Amino acid sequence: MSKKVLFIVGSLREGSFNHQMALEAEKALAGKAEVSYLDYSAIPLFNQELEVPTLPAVAAAREAVLAADAIWIFSPVYNFSIPGTVKNLLDWLSRAIDLSDTRGASALQDKIVTVSSVANAGHEQLFAIYKDLLPFIRTQVVGEFTAARVNDSAWADGKLVLEDSVATSLKQQAEDLVQAIQ
Ligand SMILES: Cc1cc2nc3c(=O)[nH]c(=O)nc-3n(C[C@H](O)[C@H](O)[C@H](O)COP(=O)(O)O)c2cc1C
Repeated sequence: MSKKVLFIVGSLREGSFNHQMALEAEKALAGKAEVSYLDYSAIPLFNQELEVPTLPAVAAAREAVLAADAIWIFSPVYNFSIPGTVKNLLDWLSRAIDLSDTRGASALQDKIVTVSSVANAGHEQLFAIYKDLLPFIRTQVVGEFTAARVNDSAWADGKLVLEDSVATSLKQQAEDLVQAIQ
């Protein structure tokens, strides 16, 4: 059975450069793992009062995470930090599935996770935050995180062009992820 990698793109923007990077990563995983994209657009801002009964959008996101062997997050940098979109999603997913045992397993328990990012500045700070957060929510971080700059022409023509070294790093990250889920 082929391995499943769930992509989380941390930008909801049409034409997102992080989404474009995800498409490149998908090519790097072709033939090695099945890729799907998590649609988390219907998940509301976290509110403990909304946890019970489980919202359909949250249940669907949990199912997608549980069915995946690994997660690959493609994250913009917002103010040198994690975009609220991704943090909100991870907060929801970090909650115990059975709330009668709040320390019990979440859908993310032991999940293998890696991160890449397209931005102009702040990758280092962003990656440091993910490297603190992801183990805290009981996931296993793998691979060297790939950082890409927004190339100068990208805002004019909407097309992200990855430098050769970045494309190589992305392929290596895909390889490392595949190795980790064998
Ligand atoms: C609220 C906000 C904060 C941002 N902060 C940063 C930042 O700290 N560093 C940076 O390089 N770009 C920053 N940007 C610009 C984003 O990197 C840029 O919009 C990028 O294209 C977002 O990724 P996307 O193309 O996948 O949507 C910020 C953008 C927004 C909307």
